[in-house]
Amino acid sequence: MRGLEGRVALVTGAGGGIGRAICSRFVEEGITVVAADIDEGSLRSLSRNTGSAGRSAYPVRLDITDFTAVQNAVMDVVSRFGSIDILVNNAGWDVATPFVETTPDFWDKVIAIIIAFLASDDANFITGQTISVSGGLTMHG
Ligand SMILES: NC(=O)c1ccc[n+]([C@@H]2O[C@H](COP(=O)([O-])OP(=O)(O)OC[C@H]3O[C@@H](n4cnc5c(N)ncnc54)[C@H](O)[C@@H]3O)[C@@H](O)[C@H]2O)c1
Repeated sequence: MRGLEGRVALVTGAGGGIGRAICSRFVEEGITVVAADIDEGSLRSLSRNTGSAGRSAYPVRLDITDFTAVQNAVMDVVSRFGSIDILVNNAGWDVATPFVETTPDFWDKVIAIIIAFLASDDANFITGQTISVSGGLTMHG
């Protein structure tokens, strides 16, 4: 992963295990990283622990199932950094539960979080690549 210095990335679910690792690697590459997560505590810890040489991810508290909040956050990022070149659609939610004990509400929540940000992608907010982390990998631009 080289040649991405100066690009702007928005990473959802940035406070979780995979999101945190993605943010760290992107920051190492000189990518401007906006780290979005619903959980403020994980974002605080991410800001403390991510980055070197004075660089770190910019934390944004965001519920990605709230479409208006997503639109506002994207507009804020674009007005501050000029564009969003890379979206990492990584936020997810799950609880290890036997399938037969799950409910429609459970699956509604799982699916809502996985697909939420792609609606923004359809609205052409993202100028470059979208990477979806949800058990599979999707890239398009
Ligand atoms: N860890 C695995 O083995 C594994 C396997 C397959 C797929 N995945 C997928 O990879 C992604 C990341 O996994 P992980 O292990 O880092 O999970 P994680 O639970 O550590 O992190 C997920 C993050 O998403 C955030 N989040 C949840 N709902 C949100 C919302 N509405 N708005 C914004 N942020 C929200 C959580 O606060 C959390 O920080 C998920 O989409 C997960 O489904 C993980």
